[in-house]
Amino acid sequence: MDSRMDAHAAKAALEWQIELGATEAIDDAPRNRYDLPAKAPAPKKARPVGAVAPENLPTESDPVAEAEQAVANVRTLEELQAAIAAFDACELKRGARNLVFADGNPHARVMIVGEAPGRDEDREGRPFVGRAGHLLDKMFAAIDLSRTAPDPEHALYITNILPWRPPQNRDPKPEEIAMMRPFVFRHIDLVGPDILVLMGNIACQGLLGKRGITRLRGKWQELGGRPVMPMFHPAYLLRNPSAKRETWQDLLALKEKLGES
Ligand code: URA
Repeated sequence: MDSRMDAHAAKAALEWQIELGATEAIDDAPRNRYDLPAKAPAPKKARPVGAVAPENLPTESDPVAEAEQAVANVRTLEELQAAIAAFDACELKRGARNLVFADGNPHARVMIVGEAPGRDEDREGRPFVGRAGHLLDKMFAAIDLSRTAPDPEHALYITNILPWRPPQNRDPKPEEIAMMRPFVFRHIDLVGPDILVLMGNIACQGLLGKRGITRLRGKWQELGGRPVMPMFHPAYLLRNPSAKRETWQDLLALKEKLGES
């Protein structure tokens, strides 16, 4: 009992104990039951034969952290491609024929980021080689830019948010975008373009965290200090040819920006 307790409080505490039924002394000397000895360690339970020790259980995997670790020491585009090829956390890799890394001139002032490879790209291992890719080439040729130009002023460099084709060309899942994003950010850093063009909603969602391409297109955004132009995806333009008029405005804005810097 607390030695500082006054007589009234001690009497009240005693009456309270009597009320609880503590009416008999057990030991000769009083003992403070609140001074508990240090708890003895719980006896080890026997582990069933064949069960894995908790310390040896696999920790829950974190593909985004794995991706960040995979790019941490990447210094060149070749190393980046090798790091993506070695990344096993994305299921899409198992269903794809080829890794689709990039195409064009890595010294280009303009870098385009699309969504994901389709059937043709999966077969060839190069981005934007199907119908949408042909339209993309025509669009940029109209402002004198091409993926085959050796001169950085007129060149394009092209990649996608995802390097593997999603089955049946379904939309990329948010977790797939999240785990491949560290690779795309590193890709942009290594190429170091003056301007980034994002094709469609998935690219805008992946890199800017914004959706709503109809609202975003044609409005300059910024990523890591670089100007970013969101544009309609060429596959959308194939389905909605009337949107080509707005895309032409966006291409002109891009050309103007290149002239400024
Ligand atoms: N659509 C894309 O977004 N990327 C490609 O590589 C092909 C089609």
